[in-house]
Amino acid sequence: MPHLSVFATRDALMQAAADRLEAALREGIAARGAACIALSGGSTPEPAYVALAARDLDWPKIRFAMVDERFVASDDDASNEKMLRRALAPALAKGADLLPLFSSGSPADAAKRADAIYAPLHIDAALMGMGDDMHTASWFPGAAGEALSDARSVVAVHAPMATGCADRLTLTQSAIARAGRVFLLISGESKRATLDAALALHAEDAPVVALFSDCERQPEVLWAA
Ligand code: 6PG
Repeated sequence: MPHLSVFATRDALMQAAADRLEAALREGIAARGAACIALSGGSTPEPAYVALAARDLDWPKIRFAMVDERFVASDDDASNEKMLRRALAPALAKGADLLPLFSSGSPADAAKRADAIYAPLHIDAALMGMGDDMHTASWFPGAAGEALSDARSVVAVHAPMATGCADRLTLTQSAIARAGRVFLLISGESKRATLDAALALHAEDAPVVALFSDCERQPEVLWAA
């Protein structure tokens, strides 16, 4: 298991994730006058986002990008944007910006619009999650499409097995590889075992391993039982 940080409780895990995101934001602001972090959806990370948004940061200098999105309107319960707006509300109210991936029209058109916004971003850190099927972002086994091979930052994928919505918009592996730091936040014994198993497989079948493909820049895995 590469670079695994273990926490005693889920609360400690969420605070540690918030600590790392805060550090990346502070360093980005110190280096460039502004900072950007890319955040995953799903159910695991929301408490980390709530913890982060309660902190005292120079919010008008901060942008939240999204790691992936289900192709649904932003008021749909499956929308990652909806979860992020709820969790990050105090930071957004103080001037932070959230860059949606979803826009109306076809998934391909929305991906093109989002790519124009996301391609120039300097992403200081990306917080990734992992599903029980070994997907990360919206890179699904056997359905990652161009996400693992395209030089663009944002692509549309169709993954019939995906929870919430089969049509997804996702940052590509190349976009995540350009992030200053990458964290993988998982909890529970079963996800740890799933990650161990994934590390012996190929990215096509276990897309989460694509995060570990560069030996020089391994993500930090944050885990609690
Ligand atoms: C999504 C996510 C996704 C997530 C994993 C883990 O929209 O589904 O961004 O990649 O990180 O599915 O989700 P859980 O935290 O709900 O297990």
